[in-house]
Amino acid sequence: MPVRQPLQQVRFGGIEAGITDAHGLKAERQPPVFYLRGKCVVIYLRCSVLHRPNHSRISLPDEDSTAAFAARLAPALQAGMVIYLRGDLGAGKTTLVRGLLRALGYDGRVKSPTYTLIEQYDIAGLNLRHFDLYRFRDAEEWEAAGFRDEFDGRNICLVEWPEQAAGLLPPADLEINFEILPHGRTLDLQALTDTGKQCLAALPD
Ligand SMILES: Nc1ncnc2c1ncn2[C@@H]1O[C@H](COP(=O)(O)OP(=O)(O)OP(=O)(O)O)[C@@H](O)[C@H]1O
Ligand SMILES: [Mg+2]
Repeated sequence: MPVRQPLQQVRFGGIEAGITDAHGLKAERQPPVFYLRGKCVVIYLRCSVLHRPNHSRISLPDEDSTAAFAARLAPALQAGMVIYLRGDLGAGKTTLVRGLLRALGYDGRVKSPTYTLIEQYDIAGLNLRHFDLYRFRDAEEWEAAGFRDEFDGRNICLVEWPEQAAGLLPPADLEINFEILPHGRTLDLQALTDTGKQCLAALPD
């Protein structure tokens, strides 16, 4: 198991110790407690779990905060990921995808795939596929449009309205649920595979 960079490092005499985040759990920084017993140094490291790595809830009070969250999510994306984006019309799904693309350095137009059903972006060494399946009809269309081939284990597939293609879509690594509030949005992120959990654990603070 690789040794991770500690969140906090302390030195006591010749001994060096660090607090790291084991198994993707976020460790809260707290001062370590030292006790001297004879010649032996006993070090108690206190840490507490802030959230489980398969779930995260994020408050986005305005559109700028959606862009800021997208900038955090972008470096945590992994090739081959499938991400479902759930939420009502106008909940902010496309805004998040636009933010991801901007964060990855894409400065072209990001259209909603409302009519095309899919838009493709190859940027920063990643192949993103943005689906909006609101107008998607049936399995015949799925095959005819070649959507099956897009889920090739390399493309990052971001899917709005996944419920429209239930039974055809591969399962998600990560589901993001958007809730519309009077002011802003709340995001609920649910990791459903190890890849999804790694993505949540890799979100920078
Ligand atoms: N955090 C936020 N707070 C307030 N408004 C936001 C936030 N994020 C996005 N919006 C606004 O929500 C509106 C609709 O966003 P968007 O088109 O991304 O929705 P959508 O979920 O993709 O909708 P659809 O299902 O119709 O494709 C935009 O006007 C955008 O500015
Ligand atoms: Mg949309």
